[in-house]
Amino acid sequence: MKNKLKLITNLWLLLTLLCIGCVQSQPASTPTAPPPPSSTPLPAAPTATATLPVEIEAAYQNPQLPIEARVADLLARMTLAEKIGQMTQVEKNSIQKDDLTTQAIGSLLSGGGGYPTPNTPAAWARMVNEFQEYALRSRLGIPLIYGVDAVHGHNNVAGAVIFPHNIGLGAANDPELMARIGRVTAAEMAATGVYWDFAPVVAVSQDIRWGRTYEGYSENTALVATLGTAYLRGLQGDSLADPATVLGTPKHYVGDGGTAWGSAAIGTYHLDTGVTEVDEATLRAVHLSPYVAAIEAGAQSIMISYSSWGGSKLHGQKYLITEVLKGELGFEGFTVSDWGGIDRIAPDYYDAVVTAINAGVDMAMVPFDYERYIATVTRAVEAGDISTERIDDAVRRILRVKFALGLFEQPFAAEMLLAEVGSPAHRAVAREAVAKSLVLLKNAEETLPLPTDLPRLYVTGQAADDIGQQCGGWTIEWQGKLGDITPGTTILQAIRASVAATTTVDYDPTGRFETVQGQVPVCIAVVGETPYAEGVGDRADLALSVNDVRMLERLRARCDQLVVVLISGRPLIVTEQIDYWDALVAAWLPGTEGQGVADGLFGARPFTGKLPYTWPRAMEQLPLSRLTADGGAPLFPFGYGLER
Ligand code: BGC
Ligand code: BGC
Repeated sequence: MKNKLKLITNLWLLLTLLCIGCVQSQPASTPTAPPPPSSTPLPAAPTATATLPVEIEAAYQNPQLPIEARVADLLARMTLAEKIGQMTQVEKNSIQKDDLTTQAIGSLLSGGGGYPTPNTPAAWARMVNEFQEYALRSRLGIPLIYGVDAVHGHNNVAGAVIFPHNIGLGAANDPELMARIGRVTAAEMAATGVYWDFAPVVAVSQDIRWGRTYEGYSENTALVATLGTAYLRGLQGDSLADPATVLGTPKHYVGDGGTAWGSAAIGTYHLDTGVTEVDEATLRAVHLSPYVAAIEAGAQSIMISYSSWGGSKLHGQKYLITEVLKGELGFEGFTVSDWGGIDRIAPDYYDAVVTAINAGVDMAMVPFDYERYIATVTRAVEAGDISTERIDDAVRRILRVKFALGLFEQPFAAEMLLAEVGSPAHRAVAREAVAKSLVLLKNAEETLPLPTDLPRLYVTGQAADDIGQQCGGWTIEWQGKLGDITPGTTILQAIRASVAATTTVDYDPTGRFETVQGQVPVCIAVVGETPYAEGVGDRADLALSVNDVRMLERLRARCDQLVVVLISGRPLIVTEQIDYWDALVAAWLPGTEGQGVADGLFGARPFTGKLPYTWPRAMEQLPLSRLTADGGAPLFPFGYGLER
């Protein structure tokens, strides 16, 4: 076999030398014609041919060739079934592994909480590598691209560093830091064989009642564009082919942050997946610009939004996907549907699939019943409802990115990076981000920073000692989870680590402090929201919980100065309570590195964060458009933040 191959290759070399110039004339086979057997050597660019190693059988396998040549070569060899396979993304627990081989499935994903057992970085690498082996055994050996929502670090992986959610990074507003966070996240992902990140969220949330507010950087378009592209550049590096870089995915195209209350498509949701009721000029000015910036910064994959605009769901909008995104904005990468997003655009699945693909959706995040998806696309192509040109366009876009990522050369996990997952160096970047994300909203009589040598300190609030709560949604589980879900430093641990050996720190989550006596100079209360994700977090009422309010009132009597640290995915209504607080710090959802919070409280780092969202006085001021129209004063304006 090897010898025969060698013979063919040599023969080919000879032919090529005799025939420089005829190299471009290879006819592309049509999808109906049987593809040439994969061992048939194809023409290659003459300059590259000389370095072609003997084991390279086909042009598409030759890394020396330009990507477009490799794409064209591979596409010409593919059957319709293989092409449709490439357009299919399956949730990892739903895949029959053999189908990766026999149907050339293009992609798998872990949804929120889609971890292997045990949930360790090494087990992730083993899991993804095994899937990859099945894919590489397919007729043409096209590698799989595995995707996850690494929206604040590689957040489904226990032991990975968890960064602040984007709302906190919006407050930090530090593009250079964003790029470093992107690099760290990419390295932790690459270590596990995951080269595709469904991030950044470049939603420009106009209503903080939305459960995805924290996934976005800001209500301000320019800030979103700046930070989103900085992060994307960090993820993707100078070259996607670098083993420590991954593909980013600005999402959700377009207008996801502009939906109207009560317009949601899912029963229990209010805003999420709803209708963006704005005219085209507003859609472009507020919601589209971050995509323009992201494409300029090299975005190669974009996820379509569940939301609707102009009377129909984005997943079926040819105008916005094909004409605007791919045409006007010149996007050359591929689009991916959201999770089951195609199913939602029409009651009839056939209609839904035809509409979505013809609108310009290139890959479907199916995510479960891929047999049905594949059968439906096949039927639609055979019936002429989806053209082979559209299929080829979609597959060309997907393959282009796979080649650019270097997956054909390095399909497996970059396991040399495993030791870096959750490393002290990576955690240091997150700690810095946490400190920079803190927004000091009130600081009566310069309460903060606190001296480190206080005799005694009361710390209260469930959120003070709960890694899961300080991480929020999209951490280990889709909805996040309270408790000790992944290694990290709680805020309480960080406080203890920051004070002098002579300081007594008492902790009572209820704020009763029944076993200790008397008044203390300072109390730190950590209160706020418990984890949620997506529409599950849509809320009509953003008041502090009754329990938190009572606890704070109780506590007030026990301390000279009361410092409140808010853990939340958005501004909460604190108008009635703030008067009796001495200091208020918005810490957002800081992630695993609670030490960054203590760095601010005790002055190891200055407070520099600024509000990325307007802080309302009352629910009646929401959404933002109402506040703007009414001309009322919020509790704190956009951009507010004391410096200390
Ligand atoms: C979310 C996306 C996410 C996908 C996969 C969807 O529900 O809207 O943001 O990428 O699930 O987890
Ligand atoms: C998955 C998420 C996904 C969501 C969509 C969940 O079961 O874990 O990744 O975003 O479903 O509804």
